[in-house]
Amino acid sequence: MEILENFNLKHFNTFHVSAHGRYFVNATDLTCLRDALAFANKKEIPFMLIGQGSNLLFKEDYPGLIIEINVRGRKLIREDDDTYFVKARCGENWHAFVQWCLDNKFYGLENLSLIPGTIGAAPVQNIGAYGVELCDVMVSLDALEIATGELKTFTNAECDFSYRNSVFKQGLKDQYVIYSVTFGLSKKPVINIRYAALAKALEGMSLDALTPELVSKTVCDIRRSKLPNPQRLGNAGSFFWNPEISLENYTLLQEEHPGIVGYPTADKVKLAAAWLIEQAGWKGYREGDVGVHEDHALVLVNYGQATGAELVDLSRRIQASVKEKYGIELMPEVRII
Ligand code: EPU
Repeated sequence: MEILENFNLKHFNTFHVSAHGRYFVNATDLTCLRDALAFANKKEIPFMLIGQGSNLLFKEDYPGLIIEINVRGRKLIREDDDTYFVKARCGENWHAFVQWCLDNKFYGLENLSLIPGTIGAAPVQNIGAYGVELCDVMVSLDALEIATGELKTFTNAECDFSYRNSVFKQGLKDQYVIYSVTFGLSKKPVINIRYAALAKALEGMSLDALTPELVSKTVCDIRRSKLPNPQRLGNAGSFFWNPEISLENYTLLQEEHPGIVGYPTADKVKLAAAWLIEQAGWKGYREGDVGVHEDHALVLVNYGQATGAELVDLSRRIQASVKEKYGIELMPEVRII
């Protein structure tokens, strides 16, 4: 295991901000992962796991060990009449895995096409897009218990998933490293186009023409049309969560702001944070190298040499103005380190 010192993380976060990790290791297998955790423990320094850095923002240098999770491998482990059970290790690229499943006719991940990041990061925040969340297709996962170095299996229910949330962000935060994830994928094509933007893009298609491949392609097209490619423009997707409020509050807000965009969930209403930010005047805003993307108000961008601190400062100003205009607290979805 090679430990690097004072390592620049610019290429390990999709915001492409410069920040240094005191130590850095590329963990390519379970032994390496265990050794890296033992190193941090022995040195009594903090550690941080990093996949592709697609959901984090370094606002300063990191004083501990950065562990790049790079454990690869994916395979079909069993099947029954209806389902393929497919296992992928934590360092696999999410979108490449989705494409590989599609190529093999393992269906159910199409709506989650083109999400940046790795398999290991996906369950932690229960990634979701275009009407499907990871929890809809995940059977179980294996996670490394940091305190003991043992692998433990969690069922879907034990992960306690909800919107962009899981037990690994709550009660078990910082206690486990996700090692592999097992998915239950359908043998028959699954078409889910309930999400309004997806339904609209596929309007008028005959049922026969609606294939999982087409759904995946359409999701990719929609994402490309409004979310900037992090390889070209530094960003981490949605910067804030969509806030959930009570139906009563929503009705009151609607009276004052008739155009407000909200989607009913089980017992609440999920507001489109992008609408709040756009209406507060931020869409397309730019100051120096930080800004709010011109095609999507929920995406903060680094136009070149922005620092993490500048992006955090912009995010706070957006929060304050949305709070002032609508009384709504926006919470960052991106992990700020
Ligand atoms: N809208 C605006 N202005 C904008 C953009 C959107 O007013 O600049 C309004 C529109 O009314 C639009 C609505 O907001 O209909 C929702 O926009 P969109 O469909 O783009 O979805 P979102 O709520 O902004 C969420 C996820 C995305 C995911 C999409 C599609 C969160 C925090 N974000 O965005 O996830 O791709 O839905 O399912 O839940 C990510 O997590 O990084 C991410 C990109």
